[in-house]
Amino acid sequence: MQAWLCENPVGPEALQWRTLPTPQPAAGEVRIAIRAASLNFPDLLMVQNKYQAKPPLPFVPGTEYSGTVEAVGSGVTRFKPGDVVAAYGGLGGFATHACVSEALVIHLPAGFDIEDASAFICTYGTTHHALLDRAQLQAGETVLVLGAAGGVGTAAIQIAKLAGARVIAAASSDAKCDFCRSLGADETINYTTTPIRDALKALTAGKGPDVVYDPVGGDLAEPVFRSIAWRGRYLVIGFAQGSIPALPLNLPLLKGTSIVGVFWGEFARREPQRNAQALAELTNWYMAGRIKPAIDMRLPMHELPKAFARMGSREVRGKIVMTNP
Ligand SMILES: NC(=O)c1ccc[n+]([C@@H]2O[C@H](COP(=O)([O-])OP(=O)(O)OC[C@H]3O[C@@H](n4cnc5c(N)ncnc54)[C@H](OP(=O)(O)O)[C@@H]3O)[C@@H](O)[C@H]2O)c1
Repeated sequence: MQAWLCENPVGPEALQWRTLPTPQPAAGEVRIAIRAASLNFPDLLMVQNKYQAKPPLPFVPGTEYSGTVEAVGSGVTRFKPGDVVAAYGGLGGFATHACVSEALVIHLPAGFDIEDASAFICTYGTTHHALLDRAQLQAGETVLVLGAAGGVGTAAIQIAKLAGARVIAAASSDAKCDFCRSLGADETINYTTTPIRDALKALTAGKGPDVVYDPVGGDLAEPVFRSIAWRGRYLVIGFAQGSIPALPLNLPLLKGTSIVGVFWGEFARREPQRNAQALAELTNWYMAGRIKPAIDMRLPMHELPKAFARMGSREVRGKIVMTNP
C-alpha cells in the first residue's frame, strides 16, 4: 500500500509518502480500501506532536476515512468484503488501505456519497453530542458558533438550524461570513473587524446567546463568555487558535451559566450505544438531505501537504477531502 508516514512529528513537512506492506486485519478488525479521507484539526496537531494523544512512532496519520471492506479478521460479524463503509479510526487514513476495529466502522446506505462519508463522523458526531446532548439545545434558542466556517463549525450551523435554533455564525473574514450564510446562518459576525461583544448585544437585543459553540479558544473566549445569556451553556470544543483560555469563576456564578466540556472521542468510547444512536440519526438526516458536509476542496491523496498548509493558514471553508483513484 501507499501511505503518509510520520517518523518525526515536527510538522506536515516531515511526512513521507511511502510504499509499505499492506496490513492484514487482526481479530476484530476489517481492512478498508480507502477511497476518501478528510482532514480534521487533530490530524494537524498529531503530526506536530501537539495533540493530547501521542501515537507511538512511526504512525500513519488520518483520523477519518471511507471506502470498501476488502478483508475481515477473525470474529468480525458486522462486515464482509464489499461493504461500503466509513470509519473514525483515529489513525491510518492518509493511505490507500487501513486496518481498523469493526467497532469504529459504520455501514453506509446506498446513495451516501463516498467523499461526503469521509467528512461526516467526526464533525457531525461531535456537534450532535455537543449541541443536542451536552447543551440540550431547544428550538427558539440562539446559538453562537465561533470558527463557524471550519469543519466542526459548519456542522454546528447545520445541526443548530435543524434543531430550530437561531444561528449567529462568527468567523475571521467577510468571505467566511458569506459562506456561513450560504449554509443557513441567520446572522454573522466578522470578529476580525467587529468587537464581538457589541455585535452580540446588537444581534440579541442585549440578552446574549443561549449556547456558545467554541472550537477556537484563545482570546475570544472571555469576551464571548461575558456576553452569554442567563442560564447559557458555553461548549468547550477545542483550541484552534492555539492557547487555552482561563476564565474568572465569578462569571458563571453571576450569569447562572454552565461551562460544558465536549470530548466526542471519549464519549464514543465510553458510551458506544448512545454514539451509535446519534450516528444513525445523523445518517438518516444526511439521506433526507437535511445535513451535508461542505467540501472545501478535493485533492489526490499524494498531495496531502497542500491540505495541511491550507488548514494551518485558516483558509479552509468546511472540509478538505483527500481521494484515492
Ligand atoms: N471536542 C471534541 O470532541 C472535538 C472534535 C473535533 C474537533 N475538535 C476541535 O475543534 C477545533 C476545530 O477543528 P476543525 O477540524 O473544525 O478545524 P478547522 O476546520 O481548521 O476550523 C478551525 C477554525 O478555527 C479558527 N482559527 C482561529 N485561529 C486559528 C489558527 N491559529 N489556526 C487555525 N484555525 C484557527 C478558524 O476560523 P477563523 O479563521 O474564522 O477564525 C478555523 O476555521 C480543533 O481545535 C479540534 O481539535 C474537538
